[in-house]
Order: sequence, then C-alpha cells, then structure tokens
Amino acid sequence: MSQSAFTAAAAHDPLQSHFAEAKNWHMRMLFSQEPDRFSRFSVKAAGLFLDYSKNRLNDTTMRLLAALARERGLEQQRDAMFSGKKINTTEQRAVLHVALRAPRNAAIQVDGQDVMPEVHRVLDHIRDFAERVRSGQWTGCTGKSITDVVNIGIGGSDLGPEMACRALRAFVHPRLSMHFVSNVDAHDIDSVLSHVNPETTLFIIASKTFTTVETMMNAQSARTWFLRQRGAADLPKHFVAVSTNTKAVAAFGIDTNNMFPFWDWVGGRYSIWSAIGLPLALAIGYDRFAEFLAGAHAMDQHFRTAPLESNMPVILGLIGVWYRNFFGFSSLTIAPYHQDLERFPAYLQQLEMESNGKRVSKEGNALNIASCPAVWGDVGTNGQHAYFQLLHQGTDVIPVDFIAALKPSHALPGHHTVLLANCFAQSEALMRGKTSDEARAEMRAQGLAEDDIDTLAPHRTFPGNRPSNTILMDALTPSALGALIALYEHKTFTQGVLWDVNSFDQWGVELGKALAKNIEPELTGTPRPDAHDSSTNGLIALARTGLIS
Ligand code: F6P
Repeated sequence: MSQSAFTAAAAHDPLQSHFAEAKNWHMRMLFSQEPDRFSRFSVKAAGLFLDYSKNRLNDTTMRLLAALARERGLEQQRDAMFSGKKINTTEQRAVLHVALRAPRNAAIQVDGQDVMPEVHRVLDHIRDFAERVRSGQWTGCTGKSITDVVNIGIGGSDLGPEMACRALRAFVHPRLSMHFVSNVDAHDIDSVLSHVNPETTLFIIASKTFTTVETMMNAQSARTWFLRQRGAADLPKHFVAVSTNTKAVAAFGIDTNNMFPFWDWVGGRYSIWSAIGLPLALAIGYDRFAEFLAGAHAMDQHFRTAPLESNMPVILGLIGVWYRNFFGFSSLTIAPYHQDLERFPAYLQQLEMESNGKRVSKEGNALNIASCPAVWGDVGTNGQHAYFQLLHQGTDVIPVDFIAALKPSHALPGHHTVLLANCFAQSEALMRGKTSDEARAEMRAQGLAEDDIDTLAPHRTFPGNRPSNTILMDALTPSALGALIALYEHKTFTQGVLWDVNSFDQWGVELGKALAKNIEPELTGTPRPDAHDSSTNGLIALARTGLIS
C-alpha cells in the first residue's frame, strides 16, 4: 500500500507527535487549565452555534489540523466545487448542490453554461405547483383537493424529503399528510395505500435515474392500485415525477409538463435542495422552502469565506479526522435532542457513509489510512435509555454530536427544560466521568458498607474523557434546518479532501444490485448452484421451499 496524501503531508508528522502527548490528556484537566475553553472553542455561523470545547484538543491541535487541511488543498478544492469544476472525477461531473440554493442573480457555470436560469426556472415551477396544490386549485380527478402526498423514492430521493418534512412538521399544511415509500418490501407501500383515497392522493415518483428497481416497482404498484379504481385519463392529476430521465418518465405515463427536472451535477444524497425537495415545498409552502434554501446558502457563504480556523464545517470535519486517524475511533453518534429530527441520523448516514465510505484515493490507490467512521444514532432522551450505557462505560470511545434547539416547536410547559438539561448533562457526564474516589464518596454518603463500596466502586466509576460537540439553534425553523444540513455536507466535503477520496460517487452499491438481479430469477425459476457458494445456494433453496421446517 503506497503512502497516502494524508500521511505524506508535511503537517502530518507534527500532528502525530502532538498526538503522542494529547492522547494522555483528560478533558477535566483541559477545562481546569483553560477555564475559557467554552469561548475559545465555540463558533457561530448561519444561525447555528457549535460548542466544540468538550473535545480532546487544544489550540495547537486545531492549528496543526488546519495546517494539514491547507496543505491538502482544502481551500482550492472548495473553490473548485463552488465554481463548477468536475470534481467528481470517476463520473466526470461537477458537484453543484450549492448552486441550488444560490440567489437568482448568481452566475455558476458548468461546461461554459450558466446553470442558474434553469435552476430558477425549476424553482418557479415548484412554487407554482406547490401553491396550486396547497390552495386547492390543483384538484384530483373528481374535483377534490389533495389531502395525501405519497413520495416514492429511495436513498437520496427519499431520506432528504422524509427527514425534512418530519423535522419541519410544525410548518406542514394542516390539510396535507405526507407519506414516504422507499422499500421494495411491499409492506411499506401496502401500509400507505391501505390508508389513502385515490381521489385525493398525489404520488410523486422521485428518482434521479428513473431506473432504480425499488422505486420503479413501488411506482408500478401505486399505478396499478390507482388504475384499479380510476381510469387512465385520471392518472396525470395524481402522478408527477422528479427525475433527470424525461424519456422514462413519459414512458411511465406521466405528463412531462408535470415532471420536475434536475441535473447530473446534483448527487442523490445532496439533492434535497433540487426538485427532490418538492414534497417539502408542498408541505411547508414555497416561502418556507425558500427560507430552507437561504439557510443553507448562509452556511455556504460561511464555508466559502471564513478562515479555516473559525470555519464551522471545517472544524467539525477536522475534529472527526483527529479522532478517526489519530485516536482510531471508528464510529460517530448523532444525538438530536429534538423529536422532529428523528430521521436526521439516518440522513447523515447516507450523506457521510455513501460519500466517504471509500477505500481508494481519487487516483485509485489503496488508502493506508482509515476513512469514514460508522455514523449512527437516535433522538435524545430515548438513546439515554438504550445505548448510552456503552457511550459512558463501554470499551470503545464513540464521539457524539448533540444537536438541540433552544426553543421548542410546541407549547407544552416543562418538557423542553428537562430535555435541554438532559442534553447538556450527557455531554458533561461523558466529559467529566466519575472517578473511583468520587464513586466511593458518593456511596459512603449513601451509607453503604465498606465491603459493598469495594465491590461496587469499579462498576460505578466512569472514565470520562469522552468527546462531544454540541450544535445549537434558536428553533428548528426551515432556515436552521437548511444551515444544519449544509453544515454536515461541508463537513463531509472537508473530510473527503483530507482523506483524498471522491466523496461524490457510490460504486460500492453496484455489486449487490447486480447480484440481486442474478438471484431473483432463481427464486422462482431454475436455480444455478454452480453460480454461487454453498451459503447462497442454501438460502436460495430455503426461499424456494418457503419453509424452515
Ligand atoms: O443507493 C445508491 C443510489 O444511487 C443513491 O446514491 C441514490 O440516492 C439512490 O440510489 C436513488 O437513486 P435514484 O434517485 O436514481 O432512484
């Protein structure tokens, strides 16, 4: 394995030497030596606040990490992305989700063509369509207003709109129920179809390629269900599409006037800002959707112009690199203390893991360093009563990103104070831990016998020194959500640059898709035992009999 650009950088060895010292620090010590850590290691941008003081780092760490980022060309690569260069080199594509949230008068070129007029033409179409559906002007085939919107898509054509509609629940039009169907497992679509009325339901078939098996199967099932109850002439009022593939959309029977296009320079997991965001625009209205785009644009401006040392996405990315490549931590937990962000960890899973879950460099050489950690999580306080035990006392150290809003989107008294208290207490507990002496003193105060104290002390001791970031916003508004997603997009970009991977392709999902196509006919037709190993043959045989015993 050749040396990667990461380890070859001149800034790498000083970081490695610094790590030899830093790995022995305890954050309790850092906080007592540097009482101003909170003000020193926090930053505000685009309506978000990041406290990164509860991390195993100091000024030198951040200076050295920023030097590494500079040497790896982060600023130049960021500028190349913003200016429409084809930085997705394995697919020869520009990467311009930032253009989707840029103001109308911006000029961003791909292949010598300004993309902004087309971006805004589609946004105007979204505005017009969303207003007609919301006002009741767009009706179903029997003249009734739309009450249910069913988005059929998967991956980037599902996770973004689903997560965002859930997150901005408080702003959703009261007449509209939003549904999201993604899984090829028909239990998913079946549970939706059994609850909606064809006369008042709008299906959005969302697929960049319009070839994805899951989406096409679900779309066909929805179409069949609809045609069983209504005529083919009624279909255009109930099916619209979001895609880059006009031919396939027309072949499906959707009126291409009701097709919302986007472009090959929008990656699936970066597409919520494009027409893939149509369900969100329908749900919260175009003006709110525009605020969502503006929140992301504000984060873009910050990422583009702030020095690396005070650049929020860069800081988040560098801290992740510090833990992944020096400490060797292999996973990251996302803990939103906001029920409406319950799908945010799943969204980030695709964003970070599909982008940076790569094992070769941009040039195709095997990496000699670790790349993306596993990203997972759930909302607080639920996680506290499930897996937080491992975060506090397990043998692995797993950094946590806490995310919370200062103000709730509901009016119920008391809850929010308790929620925030728990959020802040978790980061404090992870950082401080509880020493054996503290555990013993606590038990003595509770009147336990010395023998019992000796037995219990190891179990009631917490090592602490477990890192976390805390990201705060005023409230979970469209603009704050836009900024939050863009924050993680640019964090992902930063890490991809440092690791020297192409963050914008996803060849890793292809092999399984191809093998599924091979196996499918064998489940009902003639098996091909020579084509597989004994495990796969055994599983196919079981599925064919449909019986375990
Ligand atoms: O899982 C691979 C992937 O290509 C994702 O990147 C993408 O978001 C998803 O499939 C859906 O693709 P499409 O929008 O083309 O149906």
